[in-house]
Amino acid sequence: MTIIDGKQTAEEYKALLKQEVNVLVAIGKRPPGLAILLIGNNGASETYVANKLKTCHDVGFNASLFRFENTVSESEILNCINELNFNSSIDGVIVQSPFPNHISPQKINEAIHPAKDVDGFHPMNAGRLQQNKPCYIAATPKGIMQLIEKYKIETQGKHCVVVGRSNIVGMPMSILLSRNSKPGNCTVTICHSKTVDLASYTKRADILIAAIGSPELITAAMVKEGAVVIDVGITRVADQATKSGYKLKGDIKYDEVANKCSFITPVPGGVGPMTIIGLLQNTLLAAKNAIYN
Ligand code: GUN
Repeated sequence: MTIIDGKQTAEEYKALLKQEVNVLVAIGKRPPGLAILLIGNNGASETYVANKLKTCHDVGFNASLFRFENTVSESEILNCINELNFNSSIDGVIVQSPFPNHISPQKINEAIHPAKDVDGFHPMNAGRLQQNKPCYIAATPKGIMQLIEKYKIETQGKHCVVVGRSNIVGMPMSILLSRNSKPGNCTVTICHSKTVDLASYTKRADILIAAIGSPELITAAMVKEGAVVIDVGITRVADQATKSGYKLKGDIKYDEVANKCSFITPVPGGVGPMTIIGLLQNTLLAAKNAIYN
């Protein structure tokens, strides 16, 4: 069994991003600019945003944080996005989710100009992905595809089961693995919270991608011997033995599944670090205007 080291892989990609920024600056361009909007003070979102800002800083991007109270109106957020759409020093705009209930994710996603939508959540980018056209690919699936490539995992003709159908992970992941590409050409089954007898599907997966946010849902009995197991879940579970008062848990029961599979991503240190890389790669593409020009 091989542990897929997302942390190490992310470090390698970070070095490449840094080199590219140096080249841009050497030819007289400004570094890529990313604007991050953060609403409220959700602990996990605070951590994700802090990591995104730090990684931007490490590779030489200009990142700016726009903070809003939980009570902010939807129109205030939309106005901020609109200004950033017109700001020529900003290449990418993202709004960290989840949002408060009074803010519509659909309106936010559609307000960001597709050329600055480095999260890849705008219907234009999601649609272009489905049609195999150049687009911004959502960061987590993009990061997972790079892990699959790096570890030379064969996908063609394999049966992939994706657990979770979110616009952020499950849906784009299923499209990427089923399209006629390398990696790709999988036969994909999408399972979700209403799937009856989940184990009957997961047991048939050559590649199992769990992205449902249900800690340790997938046990060894649900996994085929020798499967490739990718864990996207990252839930804070209360644990008084730790300093923070919580422990991060994936969707996979790691200790028992690890003994049974061929490859596995740990939590933390698996998919998470590559998500940030995907976002920064998209921002670099936006800075180079590589997709929409
Ligand atoms: N919340 C969880 N994942 C993501 C992501 O990839 N982007 C944004 N903006 N919010 C998220």
